[in-house]
Amino acid sequence: MVQTYDIKQSYRSNYEIGPQFVDPPPEVPDTPTKNFLGMPVRSRLGIAAGMLLNSKWIEGYAKHGFDILTYKTVRSAHRECYPLPNWVFVNEDGRVDGPVFAVDDPGDDPTAISSAVCFGMPSMDPSVWREDIGRAKAALAEGQVLIVSVVATPGENASRDEVVEDFVQCARWAHEAGADVVEANFSCPNVCTAEGTIYQDTEFSCLIAREMRDTLGDARFLLKVGYFGTDEHLRNFLRELNGLVNGITLVNGISRPVLRPDGQPVFGPDYEFAGVLGRAIHNPSVENVCVARNIVDSESLDLELVAVGGVSQTSDARDFFDAGASAVMMGSSPMYLPGLAADAKRAHPEW
Ligand SMILES: Cc1cc2nc3c(=O)[nH]c(=O)nc-3n(C[C@H](O)[C@H](O)[C@H](O)COP(=O)(O)O)c2cc1C
Repeated sequence: MVQTYDIKQSYRSNYEIGPQFVDPPPEVPDTPTKNFLGMPVRSRLGIAAGMLLNSKWIEGYAKHGFDILTYKTVRSAHRECYPLPNWVFVNEDGRVDGPVFAVDDPGDDPTAISSAVCFGMPSMDPSVWREDIGRAKAALAEGQVLIVSVVATPGENASRDEVVEDFVQCARWAHEAGADVVEANFSCPNVCTAEGTIYQDTEFSCLIAREMRDTLGDARFLLKVGYFGTDEHLRNFLRELNGLVNGITLVNGISRPVLRPDGQPVFGPDYEFAGVLGRAIHNPSVENVCVARNIVDSESLDLELVAVGGVSQTSDARDFFDAGASAVMMGSSPMYLPGLAADAKRAHPEW
């Protein structure tokens, strides 16, 4: 099985060496133009914040036919990655809670893979990423767009105002650097400090989004959120954020204990909970998108829905489009299925 990201190596090494494609890019079908947030795109298929560590990764996957490319979350200051391991394969049990267990061998069927990540949202210094975003943008072909994901870096006793200011700063830099869309990450399942769970606080989410909107003017602006356990919470969130952002990207990995077979936390005692990805989260993610679509339609909200969660075959992307997604993103599967967008576009040029 191809693995373009070497999970045995550090984030830094993958940043410098990757992506490690085994084969040259596949023939990418010439698909008709569609619309994503008012921009022309060759497809509404892309890669969510995560695997695309820098412009080399963006360029490699753009050439593989993914058309909406998200630059992995960046910060207003340099931040080291958590120690290895950062990414493990896990068993799949079809639940949204309770522990999952790491496995060495993901099996022969890449469409069945689930995994878990614990990076801690590392970031290069802004002087590095601000310049690199220009290169990422320049590497895209016509009909491809760049999302840049940003997050705040609050100190231990940071006030809410300081968190807001930091989000605003990152948004300004990302926009100035050439992002077509700025995405604020309000969810990170393995970050225990405030920036990991903002989406669960609707009022704070609104406060940040309002200030970011003021700075971004009419630039395109998305919020990335995690899994919503209740429809009421999701309804309230969408209602309150309506008018402040262009859309919502849902969902981030689902936070669960990730254990070794001996019961010890695989990412170390400080990070028992981490984001579970892939097959294990597909059904709950589709459910969240379905519910969100019903709310948006029934309340006439002006919000696009960018869906992510366990897409590793064409039928998974169809689930999300059927549920009413404006675009479908892949988080982990492009690592072992780099030809997925080209295959999906061949089967569904209308996507
Ligand atoms: C290697 C890796 C790193 C990730 N880092 C981020 C991140 O920095 N910011 C973010 O919003 N999501 C991050 N994610 C989560 C993905 O954007 C996505 O929400 C998640 O992988 C679920 O999608 P999937 O089931 O298709 O993998 C990361 C995912 C992976 C695989």
